[in-house]
Amino acid sequence: MSRPLTATVNLDAILSNYRYAKQLHPTCHAFAVVKSNAYGHGAVRVATFLDEEADAFAVATIEEALELREAGIESPVMLLEGVFEDSEWELCQQHGFWAAVENEVQLHGLLERDIQIEKIFVKLDSGMHRLGVTKEVADDYVHALRASGKVGEVLLMTHFSCADDLADLTTMKQLTYFEQARQLIGEIGSSVANSAAIMKWSVPENGWIRPGIMLYGISPFSELSGAELGLTPAMTLTSKVISVRSLVAGDRVGYGLGYQAEEDHELGTIAIGYGDGYPRSAPAGTPLLINGKPAELAGRVSMDMITAKFSHTDQSLAIGDEVVLWGEGMPVEKVAYWSDTIGYELVTRMTTRPKLVYTSES
Ligand SMILES: Cc1ncc(COP(=O)(O)O)c(C=O)c1O
Repeated sequence: MSRPLTATVNLDAILSNYRYAKQLHPTCHAFAVVKSNAYGHGAVRVATFLDEEADAFAVATIEEALELREAGIESPVMLLEGVFEDSEWELCQQHGFWAAVENEVQLHGLLERDIQIEKIFVKLDSGMHRLGVTKEVADDYVHALRASGKVGEVLLMTHFSCADDLADLTTMKQLTYFEQARQLIGEIGSSVANSAAIMKWSVPENGWIRPGIMLYGISPFSELSGAELGLTPAMTLTSKVISVRSLVAGDRVGYGLGYQAEEDHELGTIAIGYGDGYPRSAPAGTPLLINGKPAELAGRVSMDMITAKFSHTDQSLAIGDEVVLWGEGMPVEKVAYWSDTIGYELVTRMTTRPKLVYTSES
């Protein structure tokens, strides 16, 4: 028997979350954001499943875009950060990739080449101050790109810094700046909304929305779970109990003997650790399910194992018992909260060790 650690990905859930994003903005097109291996869910499998339905895919690097083309994905693929090297422009032309242009090196790299790109998204820095240019510079870029005859359509995009915080007015300020830029430039297509904005903010109609985390059924908001937002969580990470012992009050557990039992209880050792992507920052008390019953982390997370306290009078632990680390019955947002991180990070930083298994009714 091989190590029993599996991430089961429900492809139907991803499709229904994509449809939900589009349903919220029926006049918009939607990228399915599949960067970083589809947030750990497997970019090729996810994109293959969505290919007929998705308007386009969005990734962060040319390597991610090429991986999709090599797997036979035919929908348009957009480079959200644009090219990192001038030579990537030829690949964009060859494979029909779309790209953001967010700085002058990217702009001139494109303008100096004898190429045709179907769509370019000029990136406006509307306040996040990470990528992009001011509205005046964006206006210049748009006009230079249109005048070059090298681009089928030039659009304007921006990214929100605080859309996951519903009490923060920054998103409104960013939207206002985006509108000012649109007025300066004149008629132009747009793309502004990530998952949080798609679900909770009003975004320009007829543009391109960019759902990422919501496709995977995970909430971008710290105070709401994916299920509470009407999403279907896609990934369930499961493993098994591989060793069992009974602790008496006072016994200590794991590296540094960092956990001490306050009462007698059973302890299960489970096949998952930080070498698989389970967060080492998860403290004692972090919830998980064993045989569908609540259990909690006891002791430090090791590279290949964790240990969990199980105290149910009606049931004993046994080797082979099923464990849910996150997913069905255990929201990844909850594990993230305990581990002082976000659901995005937990699914994205899973290593190649957990087996990815895909399910779909179709
Ligand atoms: C430019 C851009 N658009 C859209 C997304 C998707 O964001 P989310 O996963 O919050 O929906 C990201 C993700 O980081 C991004 O960088």
